[in-house]
Amino acid sequence: MSTSVTANIPNAVHTAVCGLQYGDEGKGQIVDVLAEQHDFVIRYNGGANAGHTVQIGDEKHAMHLVPSGILNPNVTNVIGNGVVIDPATLLEEIDVLATRGVEVGDNLRISNRAHVVFPYHKHEDGLREAAVSRLRGQEKMLGTTGRGIGPCYADKAYRSTAIRVSDLLDVDVLSTKLKDVIVIKRAMLGALADLAGQALEAMDVDALVEQYADYGRLLRPHVCDTAQLLNDAAARGGRMLFEGANATLLDVDHGTYPFVTSSSCSASGIYSGTGVPAGSVAPIVGIVKMYTSRVGGGPFPTEFADDDAIGGGIRERGNEFGTTTGRPRRIGWLDLASTRYTTMISGTTQLACTGLAVLAGLDTLRICTDYRYKGEVLGTFPADAELIADVEPVYEDLPGFTDSISDVRSYGDLPAEARGYVDFVEQRLNVPIPQVCVGQRRDQILARDV
Ligand code: IMP
Repeated sequence: MSTSVTANIPNAVHTAVCGLQYGDEGKGQIVDVLAEQHDFVIRYNGGANAGHTVQIGDEKHAMHLVPSGILNPNVTNVIGNGVVIDPATLLEEIDVLATRGVEVGDNLRISNRAHVVFPYHKHEDGLREAAVSRLRGQEKMLGTTGRGIGPCYADKAYRSTAIRVSDLLDVDVLSTKLKDVIVIKRAMLGALADLAGQALEAMDVDALVEQYADYGRLLRPHVCDTAQLLNDAAARGGRMLFEGANATLLDVDHGTYPFVTSSSCSASGIYSGTGVPAGSVAPIVGIVKMYTSRVGGGPFPTEFADDDAIGGGIRERGNEFGTTTGRPRRIGWLDLASTRYTTMISGTTQLACTGLAVLAGLDTLRICTDYRYKGEVLGTFPADAELIADVEPVYEDLPGFTDSISDVRSYGDLPAEARGYVDFVEQRLNVPIPQVCVGQRRDQILARDV
């Protein structure tokens, strides 16, 4: 039986990989294998809030902005216009790769239209959280990654205070824009700092201009019109792999708003975030972890109590600690009421399941199939986060499996209970599952007949 992830992908010209839960589903593993079948790996949303681990030799490195195809010498990696770029983080990642012998040159292209994260965005991120905590209580905080993501996307929407990658390439343009921006930031953030009960950080315009012009000089060789690059390449038969960051339940439009990130994480973000024509991507591979994790605030109907032994065991075995912030992730049972919805929103044509091995040793595996609210089973996924926090999950209990499955190399050799669990998910989501992962390595991706 083949272990190729693309074995069951028809016409895999342009493919997308999207998380269907709250992030950290293990998208990188699937992207890594799929990258071999594509010429481009493209990030279309988010920023340094996302994280994936890259293994070089024996060492693991956390990457936040560099796309997951960077270790593949035949792949061009693109950071699309929909991404917000913190140049300091990006340059650090490029440096780490270079010192480990991974050359980053023409294999990394950065959109001239992408927006740039500045230190004042991170400052605002923290001040907003502190102000919300003061006004509404700690439990209402979004629990952001503190990477300045929301404030940078807000500036993109404001327009007058936005700075794009192309602006970094001309010191006069950068200097003129930044001088005004800082005046506005001082006024706005000063008031916010008062509200938050914190000191306003110093913002030295000249130092910022110098620093960001330097970043511009270093990034210049990678910067281009990536929309044109991708469309030209597609016309010549280039194959594209779109790598979703964060996940569909964190999508700014379709997620558990306001407990979401600020970008279009679902597959629909591909078109606005890269400039490729709408509808040109199929198949869309949705990644579902066989339990749920969430970092930060927001509703989580299937969440275990903090001191729950099952939840704690899953966290430890699954190493559920944030790649970006190191925070312990909140853990819950698999929730098909929400993944049914995100499967629809992302237009998912097939699923890859991760995390199954983490469930070994549990007597019973619970799956939430629906939400009940005020005695009624809900037919749709609620728009209101407060309502989601109040729903009662409807569970079905399935028998668990005892032994470790990490060493299983053929799907048919999995215990019947593990296969039964996957069958149940496939049936309820009504989307085929041709790949099941029993660990994070390539040889732990098992092909399943669908
Ligand atoms: P922000 O993206 O830093 O504004 O954070 C908003 C919310 O999204 C917070 O609850 C974060 O923990 C969550 N979040 C953002 N990116 C990721 C991710 O890649 N994985 C998991 N959670 C994330």
